[in-house]
Amino acid sequence: MGLDQQLESLAVDIAREAGALARTRREEGVSIAASKSALADIVTEADREVEALIRARIAAARPDDGFLGEESAAERGSSGITWVVDPIDGTVNYAYGIPSYAVSIAAVSGEPDPLSWTALAGAVYAPALGEMFHAARGAGAWLGDTRLAVNAEVNPAGSLLATGFGYDPATHAPQLALLGRVMPLARDIRRIGAASLDLVYVAAGRLDGYFERGLNPWDHAAGVLLVQEAGGTAVGMPGDAPSRDMTIVGNATLVQRLAQVVFADAAARDTRRS
Ligand code: IPD
Ligand code: CA
Ligand code: CA
Ligand code: CA
Repeated sequence: MGLDQQLESLAVDIAREAGALARTRREEGVSIAASKSALADIVTEADREVEALIRARIAAARPDDGFLGEESAAERGSSGITWVVDPIDGTVNYAYGIPSYAVSIAAVSGEPDPLSWTALAGAVYAPALGEMFHAARGAGAWLGDTRLAVNAEVNPAGSLLATGFGYDPATHAPQLALLGRVMPLARDIRRIGAASLDLVYVAAGRLDGYFERGLNPWDHAAGVLLVQEAGGTAVGMPGDAPSRDMTIVGNATLVQRLAQVVFADAAARDTRRS
């Protein structure tokens, strides 16, 4: 087994154990521990506990690798590989008892920066839905044992698209304006509430496309690899890889159309955060 497959297998095993813990804690009852950057930006004790478990498992298996997770301090490794981890993606769903939440674990090489890293392997596990999505670079995207492919056609009746609304209230007005411009391309819009699931659903052909501003590296590291391994395209700001400034995924034709709309005017292009 090559290194990428070993990393994939480790990501899958850890995601399964972490997802089981998240699900158990959910069944015991969840309370919100704190709000972070904004009122909507909540964290529960389970987010922290699940991240600690993932971190400990990675450290035990691969002590020289780095770590970048949502709920604890980043750490540089010496191996050139960094694990990019969202312990519970979709925390608001989780807190409300909506089953659309997932553990997202990716291994990347190079700088731990989505503009330049190479994603090697990833797993997105939705424990309350019983679905394990996984990929290794060059080896396809999978739901369990089923190989995934993005929808290749662009339906003239419009595409099923998903998006999200960042926690930063300052981004809401531009996001709503953007949604208005995108609507003519859409057959309908979904707001699932977990970026990792939006991405793997595009990989699985359950959605045609997805776009969102304001994602963090742990939201998209694993899911973007799944989209690419399922034959899809993933872009960010013009000429860039997906990043906090923009993430757009789907088949190549749809991504091009979405990007034209998203970056239609200079104000929209100027979405980089300081
Ligand atoms: C959030 C979810 C949500 C997206 C936000 C993310 P969290 O992650 O993925 O769908 O719209 O931008 O921050 O906080 O639930 O891990
Ligand atoms: Ca969060
Ligand atoms: Ca997240
Ligand atoms: Ca999270």
